[in-house]
Amino acid sequence: MASESAREPLANLNGTLMPLSEVRISPLDRGFLFGDAIYEVLRVYGGKPWLEEEHWHRLKRSLEAIRLGSIDLERLRRRMHETLKASTFQEAIVYLQITRGAAPRSHPFPTGATPLELLWVQDYHDAYAAVRQTGVQVLTAPDVRWERCDIKSTNLLPNVLAMQAAKEAGCHEAVLYLADGTLTEGTHSNLFGVREGTVLTAPSTNLILPGITRGLIIQLSQRCGIPVTVESLNRAELGDVSELFLSGTTTEVLPVICVDGHLIGNGTPGPVTKRLQQAYREAVVGRS
Ligand code: PDD
Repeated sequence: MASESAREPLANLNGTLMPLSEVRISPLDRGFLFGDAIYEVLRVYGGKPWLEEEHWHRLKRSLEAIRLGSIDLERLRRRMHETLKASTFQEAIVYLQITRGAAPRSHPFPTGATPLELLWVQDYHDAYAAVRQTGVQVLTAPDVRWERCDIKSTNLLPNVLAMQAAKEAGCHEAVLYLADGTLTEGTHSNLFGVREGTVLTAPSTNLILPGITRGLIIQLSQRCGIPVTVESLNRAELGDVSELFLSGTTTEVLPVICVDGHLIGNGTPGPVTKRLQQAYREAVVGRS
């Protein structure tokens, strides 16, 4: 196990394979200077990227939203598969980032800069396996992000600060709320509730990231005969939900049993959450 986890991530920088530690990026890269960049994180199960089409679709959408339309996505996809194959990793994460490239520092888009296309594949040992059984505690924190949270941009400082506050409070995630108490999502996950047997999820607007896992959970709920309502939860109404859970590429389906020190339901993972965890596992195992 120890030697496996020490295997170095394999990177692909603009088409060239190299160990991640050997990647060198210009200090003038706009991703570094301005956060002028977007990213994706994919989970690889048994050597195959999970929900790959959905991730490419969202990547394309993010690129268009930041007006970086010139990227050859088919080429990037080939690079990802080539890198994954060369890595021989079976249980892995693919991190993919595209920036507007390096140019003398100036706010408007540079003319003639070549976008930077970086991806790497890293071994993944599921850090959530134990807490998926027990459930986790979360903290709520004000959502001070911008109004384009639907773009998967690398500008994650509000997420980082809220997550650090959660960690310092002994929590696994911070769930963000707007001024009126509306709960949007986690710092790196989407939020679901269960009220009277119905699964509740925030609408897919500019205020949340349209999570790939969220999309699958909506489908799985419907397949399991569990009704789904698109409705945001409110911080003041958490007493009305019997279950709460988070979703994400690495998180999968993670029960939340306590928010700001208040138990949700009876303080253990609830039946709907467990059913969806099982359905998620079956979907992963049964993938084509
Ligand atoms: N985070 N909301 C936010 C703000 C996120 O950053 C993420 C994912 C999600 C869940 O999306 P998905 O189901 O597509 O993973 C929701 C990734 C994993 C990260 O930043 O590491």
